[in-house]
Amino acid sequence: MNNSTVRGVILAGGTATRLKPLTNVTNKHLLPVGRKPMIYYPIEKLVGAGIKDILIVTGVDHMGDVVSLLGSGKDFSCSFTYKVQDCAGGIAQALALAEDFAAGGSLAVILGDNIFEDSISRYLADFTRQGGGARILLKKVHDPARFGVAEIGGDRILSIEEKPLNPKSDYAVTGIYFYDREVFKIIKTLKPSGRGELEISDVNGEYVRSGKMGFSMMNGWWSDAGTFDSLATVQKLVLENPPK
Ligand code: G1P
Repeated sequence: MNNSTVRGVILAGGTATRLKPLTNVTNKHLLPVGRKPMIYYPIEKLVGAGIKDILIVTGVDHMGDVVSLLGSGKDFSCSFTYKVQDCAGGIAQALALAEDFAAGGSLAVILGDNIFEDSISRYLADFTRQGGGARILLKKVHDPARFGVAEIGGDRILSIEEKPLNPKSDYAVTGIYFYDREVFKIIKTLKPSGRGELEISDVNGEYVRSGKMGFSMMNGWWSDAGTFDSLATVQKLVLENPPK
């Protein structure tokens, strides 16, 4: 397996209720961050790591605008494929739409509102060396209850909990994931969570249980941009220390 056989996925659906009214008539991932639309950042991370085949998943409401903005991919030196998620049913449900696109290969997946400083090239190489399974990137945060949280023992992840009331660590699971083809089998076994979604943390938990989950600590700054506070934080970070 080399980097060119790993395809990229950007998940840019959801209703972004936490950012209303900014998201009343547009998709969160089209909002400005610094001098670019938010979705440019994860695209540039994939392309920067040599991933040129990229699937964009978004909802029906704003697919037209997303395609108008991004086009074929030639402006980014990559090739885009688009898939519509009919209703917002969670990150794992959106990822299931990538099965044909993955064509039996591995995927690098980035949530469209995750903005960060470091290149993903090294993490992709670590995943490639791992030779299958899944790999996630962790980041120490001051508010872990807002994220998927990883419990770590030595050099292993022991558990992953989605938005726990009593987090077992300060390590958030960032929205940057690497998966082998098994991910689609796992998603088919999932049941909706309490918030009615197919949770990516349940997918990751299954890889943890089968002993096939690797992880890296992420260097540089990282934030999502799904709340007013985090969006404001990201606006500052991209200007002070632009992503590599
Ligand atoms: C999602 C995931 C969560 C992860 C976060 C990273 O949360 O469910 O596990 O830590 O992205 O941005 P959401 O943004 O849907 O609340």
